Amino acid sequence: TTHRIAVIPGDGIGKEVVPEGLRSLEAAARIFNLDLEFTHFDFASADYYLKHGTMMPGDWEEQLTGFDAIYFGAVGWPDVVPDHISLWDSLLQFRRRFDQYVNLRPVKLLPGVPSPLANRKPGDVDFYVVRENTEGEYSSVGGVMFEGTDREVVMQETVMTRVGVDRILKYAFDLASRREAKSLTSATKSNGISISMPYWDTRVATMAENYPGVSVDKFHIDILTANFVLHPDWFDVVVASNLFGDILSDLGPAVTGTIGVAPSANINPEGLFPSLFEPVHGSAPDIAGRGIANPIGQIWCGAMMLEHLGYSQAATAIQDAFESVLAEADAQVLTPDLGGHGTTGILGTAIAERITK
Ligand code: NAI
Ligand code: MG
Repeated sequence: TTHRIAVIPGDGIGKEVVPEGLRSLEAAARIFNLDLEFTHFDFASADYYLKHGTMMPGDWEEQLTGFDAIYFGAVGWPDVVPDHISLWDSLLQFRRRFDQYVNLRPVKLLPGVPSPLANRKPGDVDFYVVRENTEGEYSSVGGVMFEGTDREVVMQETVMTRVGVDRILKYAFDLASRREAKSLTSATKSNGISISMPYWDTRVATMAENYPGVSVDKFHIDILTANFVLHPDWFDVVVASNLFGDILSDLGPAVTGTIGVAPSANINPEGLFPSLFEPVHGSAPDIAGRGIANPIGQIWCGAMMLEHLGYSQAATAIQDAFESVLAEADAQVLTPDLGGHGTTGILGTAIAERITK
């Protein structure tokens, strides 16, 4: 089968790392005989905004709907477009309109990546944060009363629906049951948030009945963040509401090293809409145009995309390729954020050439 992939490089280093991601994807496609068809789009960028006055064309949804996945770089160029416009009118529209209710971020200690973790070696830390991406604390339910007076009242509600909670839990339990450790951790705060979080806990317990092979534990978010730093090796799959997941999914990659290697996926698991794969980093205006951005976050996203499309072996091959290049730690090849003096192209090429069956 042909898989149609929409490629949106966006701004800044997005335009530099996406070609390297494609280089690895094309190598994997050749070796594993996959039929990937890439279509490039110039919208969701400052260049498009300068030409058209909007971030995206009016019919972007129709243009993207038939694709199997979106391979995204980074959007944002504050000199030209204010950040709230560039992000809200592109990336956040994709997440919402395409019901990408799973935000998935791997947290993995890699060889050769500078990390604040002492006394741990690659392999010790290898888990996923599964964040609910569409409801929870990030609702628009609420308002302000008596504005501008001493009696001012500001409220914003958490919204949890049974469908919304159950579908993210099901995704996380399915993921845990496919992994070796078969362990799931739930982020909660039912001692302080006395209505919505006990509800979350109840749904976790109910879902757990369907997965007798998965061991389940839960932590309140305060101690959980501490444990991410002190004991990241405890975790396998961590599932969390929108706010808690947002915090954990930045903390996890920060604990294991540079932002340049961290990938993320925004997934619509049912495949009703295209899922979107993007590095965690942004457009990095401070280094854009110099050819020194680390392409590994983007390349890793490609591996996640292949996994999502059902090609685990090809995904693992890309993963093994960049881990093996990292392990060699050749300063001619590694980018400056990894302590080397290589370029985006040198590192990207070295990884693509390392991919084998
Ligand atoms: P950023 O992630 O672009 O950069 C933060 C720091 O990390 C910079 O010093 C940068 O040089 C470094 N860095 C980032 N990626 C790197 C890589 N691949 N290799 C080496 N170093 C790397 O975040 P910042 O500066 O806050 O935002 C810049 C622009 O990107 C803004 O317009 C922001 O809105 C946008 N942004 C977009 C995101 C997205 O498209 N999902 C996510 C985060 C920011
Ligand atoms: Mg965040």
